[in-house]
Amino acid sequence: MNGSEFGFSIDLQRIPLVWSAEVASSPWFPSQGSTTAHDVDWLFNWILALSVVFFVGIVVTMAWFAFYYRRRPGFDPGHAPHHNTALEITWSVIPLLLTIAIFYYGFVGFLDMTVSPANAYEIKVSGQKWKWLFTYPNGHVDDNLHVPLGVPSTLLMTSEDVIHSLYIPDFRIKKDSVPGRYSRLWFEPTEAGEHDLFCAEYCGTSHSGMIAKVVVHPVGEFDKWLSDAALAELNASPVEAGQRLYNTRGCAQCHSIDGKAGTGPTFKGDFGSTHPIVGGASITVDENYVRESILEPQAKVVAGFNPVMPTYQGRLSDKEIGAIIEYLKTLK
Ligand code: CUA
Repeated sequence: MNGSEFGFSIDLQRIPLVWSAEVASSPWFPSQGSTTAHDVDWLFNWILALSVVFFVGIVVTMAWFAFYYRRRPGFDPGHAPHHNTALEITWSVIPLLLTIAIFYYGFVGFLDMTVSPANAYEIKVSGQKWKWLFTYPNGHVDDNLHVPLGVPSTLLMTSEDVIHSLYIPDFRIKKDSVPGRYSRLWFEPTEAGEHDLFCAEYCGTSHSGMIAKVVVHPVGEFDKWLSDAALAELNASPVEAGQRLYNTRGCAQCHSIDGKAGTGPTFKGDFGSTHPIVGGASITVDENYVRESILEPQAKVVAGFNPVMPTYQGRLSDKEIGAIIEYLKTLK
């Protein structure tokens, strides 16, 4: 948009948007990154324009009536007619047709966005306080969402604890991930690059930190990224694997490694140390205590902290727990 012919100029590309580093497609939308984004924006703008037209029309008419028919000396409004069939049909039928059109386009768009194409690439998503985890068909688990360009991807989502909501503004998609059931969300990215992913359902202390990146890989590069990522996981030493698990499985959200207390005790210097626990006894942090605390977090809670950690029973293998223990030992 350029208004220089009116003596001023607006460069929309210079208006920064807090939710996206990308260039905006309009002043109030983030950039369009998926095949559905254009239709969503179009319908939104259309409904907005319609609302503005009716709002202005109704308010102006109302103000004019209030002014023109106000009670004043020497003014006789005469008799208002009780009925005007033509007028009443007009003001009923036109809005009816408009709302049917809004419903039609909204419903068709909703169905499009709900039913994922049969050939879509499936990625499993799990929300947990306060981390997203994306599991790929080859078993690789990542804390960012990597997807191929120009191919529909479908997310099979669930939650480990409370209701979260996966929201990718650039793709114009959002859906709850609910504990104990699966929900599905699909999209087809239209450009390679990065997009923001948020949790859009208030889910506790670090809700605002429950963010991730969507990385759209050009055709051909996605498969390479996926096999490299899986290979790096396979070849990692226990300490490297433990560090990775610490960062990707939600440990980092509550347990710092710099000595600061968070929702849970810091991991710095934790291994081998002794703590009083709720109830009065005390424990020494050894392999068995770490293992028990991962599988049964409420068994022995360190004094001064709330029993809020979810269990990792069935979510971390013995090998992974071993790797986390090895990593903890390095945090002196
Ligand atoms: Cu998860 Cu907000």
